[in-house]
Amino acid sequence: MHETDSMVMEFSVPNTLESEIDELITHYPEKRSVTLMALHALQAHFGFVSDAGIEWIAQKLDQTPLAVLELVTFYPMFSREPLGKFHFRICRTLSCALNGSEKIYWALCEQLGLDKNVHKRQTTPDGRFTVEFVECLACCNKGPVLFLNEDFHENMTEESVSKLLTICNGDNSSERKGTGK
Ligand code: FES
Repeated sequence: MHETDSMVMEFSVPNTLESEIDELITHYPEKRSVTLMALHALQAHFGFVSDAGIEWIAQKLDQTPLAVLELVTFYPMFSREPLGKFHFRICRTLSCALNGSEKIYWALCEQLGLDKNVHKRQTTPDGRFTVEFVECLACCNKGPVLFLNEDFHENMTEESVSKLLTICNGDNSSERKGTGK
C-alpha cells in the first residue's frame, strides 16, 4: 500500500493506478506537471472527480486542494458528479450546428427519456447514460461529431446515433467503454 492511501482514509486508489501516476512523475522535473494526467486517470477509473479524489491528488503531487480544484472547474472535460457508463458529448458549435447536431441531441434525449430542451449535462435515472452538448471538438468538416466516452464519431445522423445506442444497450459489462481502462 502506498503512503497516500493512509492519508485519505475513505478514498482508495488501486495500486496499479497509483503506480501509473508514480511512473508519470518520474518524467517531469515537478510533480505538479502530472496534475492533468492524474485527473484524467482518476476520472477514467471512477467516472468523475470527487472531493476525495482532489484531496488525494493534492497530497500526491504536493499541491493545495484549491490548486487542483481550479483545474477541475476550469476544464469542461472534468466532471464533479458521477457520469453514466456511456457518456455522449455532442458538438454544438457552428459547423456541427449547421449540419444538424441539435437533431442528434434531440434523438438521443428522446430515446433515453431525457429533456431535449435542457442543454446542460443530463444523466438517466439508472445512471447508465450521460448526454451533453459541448463546444468544438476540432473536426469541423465532419460534423455533426460526438464523443461516446473516448471514442470519436463523425458525420452523425439520427439513424447512426440510434445504432450507437443499440450497441450501448447490449453492453452489460461493468467497464466504461472507450476509456482505455
Ligand atoms: S464545430 Fe463541431 S467539431 Fe468544430
